[in-house]
Formats: sequence, structure tokens, C-alpha cells
Amino acid sequence: MAHLAHDPNARPDERTTAQLGAVLSKTAEVKNDHLFVGGVDLAELAREQGTALYVMDVAQITQQLRAYKAAFGPDNRVAFAGKAFLNKAMVRLLAGEGCYLDVSGGGELAIARSAGFDTAHIIVHGNNKTEIELAEAIEATAGLIVADCFEELERISRLATERGVTQSILLRIKPGVVADTHEFIRTGAEDSKFGFGLSDGMAQTAVKMALQLPGIRLKGLHVHIGSQIFAIAPYAEAVAVLADFCTLLQSEYDFTPEVLDLGGGLGIAYQASDEPTAIKELGALITTAVAEAFASAELPLPQLIVEPGRSIVATAGITLYTVGAVKELKGIRCYVAVDGGMTDNIRTALYDAKYEAVIANKAGCKRDALVTIVGKHCESGDVVAIDASIQTPQPGDIVAVLGTGAYNATMSSNYNAQVRPAVVFVEDGTATVVQRRETYADLMARDI
Ligand code: LLP
Repeated sequence: MAHLAHDPNARPDERTTAQLGAVLSKTAEVKNDHLFVGGVDLAELAREQGTALYVMDVAQITQQLRAYKAAFGPDNRVAFAGKAFLNKAMVRLLAGEGCYLDVSGGGELAIARSAGFDTAHIIVHGNNKTEIELAEAIEATAGLIVADCFEELERISRLATERGVTQSILLRIKPGVVADTHEFIRTGAEDSKFGFGLSDGMAQTAVKMALQLPGIRLKGLHVHIGSQIFAIAPYAEAVAVLADFCTLLQSEYDFTPEVLDLGGGLGIAYQASDEPTAIKELGALITTAVAEAFASAELPLPQLIVEPGRSIVATAGITLYTVGAVKELKGIRCYVAVDGGMTDNIRTALYDAKYEAVIANKAGCKRDALVTIVGKHCESGDVVAIDASIQTPQPGDIVAVLGTGAYNATMSSNYNAQVRPAVVFVEDGTATVVQRRETYADLMARDI
């Protein structure tokens, strides 16, 4: 089937909202035919705040963070991947939960710092961090910088030496493990722009270089095998590969890593039929694999870091839209146009992502209509959900697209000079705007 094409055999699934299982956030409930999250009536919230609107269920986020902490234990660290969702309120929430933060580049670092996050708990990522970004990270005394290439190793060494400091680093390794996910978000294979390869000897050269360069303290290794992963066996494969490499490093350089960072990647349920692996199982698999592999290699047990993004925030997020038009094309399909689209959710166009949607003000009814939810932008590819089952839509209805808390706000754009939605945290019946909607003035703020 062509990209974004409609399946002529698709039928509405007739499920009600309550039957959407793991796609729903922890506090989702249906009362008086309305969808409530965090004790807040979403249809009412949409009318108060306007749409498009990003809503985040705080209880769901904290539940996931705590599940990771419990699954990996107190000796290991959970570093939320800020690329999935980041603003000052999220940074404060993470600090309150005692989590670390993985930032990708200088902008995310600036957001974390502006919210007062402890920089010792920050891990700086990126496959081509600029000289300025590296200097910012070093001056901010970031806990760890993950070096991705030889040029970065030299830059970190020089910048730290110039400042009379020693910067702790990890080396990003390509474990040569192939995760079963979309090729755009698969990162651990040998043919990847990220990190140092093992089979070509680059990883070993990088370790040797890191151990020799002044201003650098090599603390360990990092791998990230991909994202939206359901079958978790590749994590154990990556651990085995790393343990073998560590055995080599021990004998060649008398180096043993204090830290192993295993990245993020755990998948979530975007559709009711999806069956993601539980955080607890991922924790058990990784901690057991590391304990066994390092014990049999007679190496000391390293501290583990994990960097989950999507599995912390995706299910917590709901995007609310108002239906503007319903276009029934006889014998073809029904288009439901909403007041957002590819500017607030590029994932459908980019990855063929699938979403479940409900009408927040008809949430108790069966989803008896099969529609394609499209945005308001000047592109045929401006789609939010193809062949989505929803309750029979009418203009003015509030569509809630579920599972949009990860990589939606952070990948949003101003195409068509669309203003970005506000972000609202909901918790215990209270809705708090943590990021206001953009204004037209914001759109022109950089124009001179
Ligand atoms: N650590 C590193 C080094 C990463 O590159 C990533 C994601 C993560 C952690 C977090 O992975 P997660 O737990 O969220 O899967 N824009 C794509 C996802 C790109 C992921 C990039 N790296 C999407 O919307 O699906």
C-alpha cells in the first residue's frame, strides 16, 4: 500500500474509548460521555484554552519515571531523553523525581539550565556537537558528554584543557545490533551516522585516544539501538557485544568502564492492538544480562544509565483539535479536517505513524465512523491519522488524538506560519498551562 494511502477494506472498529487499553493514559476515564484525563474534562478544556492543544497527564509521566527507577534499582540512573518532550515544567518534574536528563545539543541544555536542573545530572548528546555547544556543556559542568566522533574527542580535550578542567565522557559505540523498528529511528547498526563502529576498529581507536588525551576522563560506553522497540532481545545482544569489547579493553588498556549507558528505545502502544514490553521486563532483561556478562568476564559491575524518552511521555500526551469540516467523498473516504496537523504532529507524514483518536465530547459512544483526520496545511501529506475509527464527527466536535506526548511538540513547526499549541499539564482535576500558545508576534519576533 502506498505511503499514507487509505485501505478500502478498513472498517470502523466499533470500540468505545474505554476499550482502548494501553493507549489510554493512567487517569483517563469517561464521564457523562466526555473524556477526562487527570480529572479534567478535555472537551471543556479545549473550549477554555482553544485548540490545537497539547495535554499531558502528570500522573502518567511520574508513574513511568518511577517504574524505570524501580526496574533498574537505586544504583543505576534514569535519564529522560529530552528530545521526546522538553520545557521548563518537564525539567522541574524530572528534578523532583530525582531523574537525570539526556540533552541533545545546546538548546536542550539551555532549557534544562534555565529551569535550574543540576548540571551534574545532565548527559550531552548529538552526533555533531558544535564547538560552541561543547564549550557551553563544559562550562556548565555537565555530568557527561557522549563523544560521537574523533573530532569531538579532540574538541572536548582542547576546550576542557583551555579551561583547566577535566570533562567526564562516554563514547558512543555502534554495537552492530539491528533493532526491529522503522529504519529512520534505527541507530545501532554498523551503517549509522551515530558513534564509533566495533568491526572497523574505530571504537577501539576512540578508547585509546580518549585515554591519552588531556582534559578528558573516560567513564564508559554508550549505545542506543533504536526507538519504538517491541522485541527487546537486541538489548541483551548489545550488552553481550559491549561486555566482549570491555574484556578487550581490559586486556589491551587496563581500562574498565564505570558506566554503561544503554540508551532508550522502549516501544509504546500507539494502537489498541499494540503489545509493548513492560518497563519491568526491560529492566530485568538488561540488569540480568549486564550482571551475567560482566561476572563471566570477571569485570566489575558498571553503573547503568538508561535514557527513555517515548515510554515516559508518549501515552501521557493527548492532542486536542476542533473539527472544522467533514468531507465525505462518496466511495472514496471521509476526511475530517482539524485545526492543526503536520505542524503539531509530523510523525504520521514522516514515519507512517498510527494513532487512535476519539471524540472527547462523545467518548462514551462506539467509534462507528472510519475517517482520515487531516490538518489545515497546504500539503496533501498533512495527515494526522489515516483510517481512524472515531465516533461520528460533526463540525465543532473535539477530537482527542491519543499517545501524542513524545516527539510531537518537540518536532513541531511553524509551517504556514501556524502558531504552536499551548502545553497544559493536567493533574488531580487541575489544568495548568505550562507553555503558552505562540502568538503572531512570536512568529515575527526574529524578523529585523
Ligand atoms: N538516547 C538517545 C541517544 C537517543 O538518540 C534517543 C532517541 C533516546 C535516548 C530516546 O529514545 P526513546 O526512548 O524515545 O525511543 N523522532 C522519532 C524518534 C527519534 C528517536 C531519536 N533518539 C519519532 O518520533 O519516533
